[in-house]
Amino acid sequence: MLDVQNLHTYYGESHILHDVSLKVKKGSVSVLLGRNGMGKTTTLHSIMGIVPPKSGKVLIKNTEINGKPSYQVSKHGIGIVPQGRRIFSDLTVKENLLTTYRPINNGWDLNKIYEMFPRLKERETSMGGTLSGGEQQMLSIGRALMTNPELLLLDEPSEGLSPLMVREVIRIIRELKDNGMSMLLVEQNLAMAMDLADYVYILNKGSIVFEGTPKEFDSGVKNKYLSLSS
Ligand SMILES: Nc1ncnc2c1ncn2[C@@H]1O[C@H](COP(=O)(O)OP(=O)(O)OP(=O)(O)O)[C@@H](O)[C@H]1O
Ligand SMILES: [Mg+2]
Repeated sequence: MLDVQNLHTYYGESHILHDVSLKVKKGSVSVLLGRNGMGKTTTLHSIMGIVPPKSGKVLIKNTEINGKPSYQVSKHGIGIVPQGRRIFSDLTVKENLLTTYRPINNGWDLNKIYEMFPRLKERETSMGGTLSGGEQQMLSIGRALMTNPELLLLDEPSEGLSPLMVREVIRIIRELKDNGMSMLLVEQNLAMAMDLADYVYILNKGSIVFEGTPKEFDSGVKNKYLSLSS
């Protein structure tokens, strides 16, 4: 589904991503782990064309999309749930959902989003800014689904949420996976990541330093590259 090859990304003179390669197979969840500031968001932004990589390739279903602006990348079927949720606080829940709507046959629409997130239906006319953190995360995921993506990039969707809401986010990601969605999940919540992952990558100072199945991931790798608390 997604094939990222040898990305090098810079902010000005700072060389942030060093030869990053990763894959997401159709219908599977790849997880990208790493401590703060290691380049996880930069990787997602490089894929989306928000921060264009200096070199390397991004292929979605064998079509090269590197170098394309993000609105075109999204037309190729990639949706992003950004870090910090980034909903419009002065638009209603419904308006937030409609801003990203890209209809397709039998795809996601308002009704389907409300079926999956009944809470958003209840809060349909509330301003985005009045929602709880958990509700905002549901809205952020809903907004990404309204673009009818085939691949979803999720940037730390559990960040700042209560344990109860983290469980809800896990349930949603699992349901999406059961319905065939391919996902690249950035997380610092290790338990959640291991629960959902088919394949794991660890990013350290802009380089992939581990890749393998959750079974191959062990405490040595964890202690070396992830903080002990995660
Ligand atoms: N717009 C920017 N301009 C310059 N440097 C940046 C910019 N955004 C990020 N960086 C730097 O790039 C590096 C990688 O940042 P990035 O946001 O990708 O990390 P991250 O792994 O997503 O971290 P976190 O877990 O805190 O979200 C960091 O050193 C950061 O300071
Ligand atoms: Mg980040």
